[in-house]
Amino acid sequence: MDFKQLISHCKEYAFIYQSSEIYDGLAAVYDYGPYGVELKNNIKQYWWKSMVQMHENIVGIDSSIFMHPKVWKASGHVDAFNDPLIDNKDSKKRYRADVLIEDYCAKIEGKINKDVEKARKRFGESFNEAEFRSTNGRVMDRQAKIDSIISRMSKSLTEENLQDVKSLIEELEIACPVSGSKNWTDVRQFNLMFSTQLGNIAGEEGKLYLRPETAQGIFVNFSNVQKSSRQKVPFGIAQIGKAFRNEIVARQFIFRMKEFEQMEMQFFVRPGTEMKFYESWKETRLKWHQKLGTPAAKLRYHNHENLAHYANAAVDIEFDFPFGFKELEGIHSRTDFDLNQHQDLSGKKLQYFDPELNENYVPFVVETSLGCDRMFLSQVAQALQEEEVPDSKGGVAKRIVMKLHPSIAPIKCAILPLLKNDENLVKAAKDAFNQLKLNVNTQYDEKDAIGRRYRRQDAIGTPFCITVDHQTLEDGTVTLRERDSLQQVRLSVQEANDRVTKETNINVLLMD
Ligand code: GAP
Repeated sequence: MDFKQLISHCKEYAFIYQSSEIYDGLAAVYDYGPYGVELKNNIKQYWWKSMVQMHENIVGIDSSIFMHPKVWKASGHVDAFNDPLIDNKDSKKRYRADVLIEDYCAKIEGKINKDVEKARKRFGESFNEAEFRSTNGRVMDRQAKIDSIISRMSKSLTEENLQDVKSLIEELEIACPVSGSKNWTDVRQFNLMFSTQLGNIAGEEGKLYLRPETAQGIFVNFSNVQKSSRQKVPFGIAQIGKAFRNEIVARQFIFRMKEFEQMEMQFFVRPGTEMKFYESWKETRLKWHQKLGTPAAKLRYHNHENLAHYANAAVDIEFDFPFGFKELEGIHSRTDFDLNQHQDLSGKKLQYFDPELNENYVPFVVETSLGCDRMFLSQVAQALQEEEVPDSKGGVAKRIVMKLHPSIAPIKCAILPLLKNDENLVKAAKDAFNQLKLNVNTQYDEKDAIGRRYRRQDAIGTPFCITVDHQTLEDGTVTLRERDSLQQVRLSVQEANDRVTKETNINVLLMD
């Protein structure tokens, strides 16, 4: 299923809507609908339980979106949290210069992929993709071109050589997608933080920022949390919350938004031990994604080559989104940079007394940072499929199914009376619904023919359907239909209830 179809499916089936759609929408801002909010909450629950509640030495907080303006000075966001932007003088549209260049490279990548697919068809079973990529002249030339463009861009950006970024755009003859013209302004740095103003203080002094990451709320609370919850290093502080960035983006749906949610954990360790924890969090976080059934081939590590000035190691867990492999989660070894900065600017000590070493130090930090919305997109993208299934007449039919892990599916079970105008069937179905809804998120649905109701549940990822029919009235059994295998079994209401409750529980994901 392509990306456009995924976006319209999300709207049609109550997962995600464009914000303020009746006013033609607000770019890069989205609202979650009735099933979307359930899926998002389940993802958050999985993260919170596994990261906080399953660890004796990790605690949660919920800090404010607004923070003292000096926080963002100390963290470096006021001075250096920028995107390189360029305007097209004819269309007056603004773009991220690096994205224009990356899109150019993505087109070359598309050509490479076409060549690979052609060769795959030609050679059939014996095709060796890695060998083809490393020996075919045209593919190698194209790959070399991509590599040289990306490495020049990264170097220029790291060295703040914005003139060269513009030169690169001109040399590649990149045109504005709207006007088609190559009439560009210079590239300028543009701060990504949104700001607002305190009511009682005028001017710069009263300028407040909407946090661009949740992590700083953890850093400034380091001592409060450590002392009040009597944690010993190594320990972690986690939180889930909104973050805001003035992103200039196009057509990336919930991958890159202006308002989004992060699930972040800062793990405070003794200086010098950080690489050990960095490696173990890298592994733990990858396993967390794989547990959801995400195929191994869809996830990969991508080491940062150009490290931020405060990091001594950083890696992304990338997911194969419908538009290619992109960052899903970041794992960063942030040294003692943030705590030191806050200590310097606030004048308050942010140290830990280590009883084993009998000394005070500023702990080092290993951070895991996952975007909740990107996580949502990755799950929908890998789960949403169109497939052929047997129809009732012995032929084949197409169905759209969202094969989400049952533990995060928005609705765990639908209760369906075979007929809506049979009072006894409706009553038995409602009785079953009233029992099951105490355990799991259940939906009662009596509208339309049973086949259409199954299809609706498939499309929103419901792992089980319980059908109440005339036999139910005689012997108390129902039909339990399983989404992926389409297997139907007859069970008592209680047995069906037990199975659905057990197999859709979040614990399925948490157990080793
Ligand atoms: N505290 C570290 C930090 O914020 P980041 O790589 O800028 O690091 C972490 O962001 C994660 O937040 C990303 O891996 C991504 O999942 C998510 N994220 C970042 N910007 C986003 C945006 N504009 N829209 C949606 N998710 C975003």
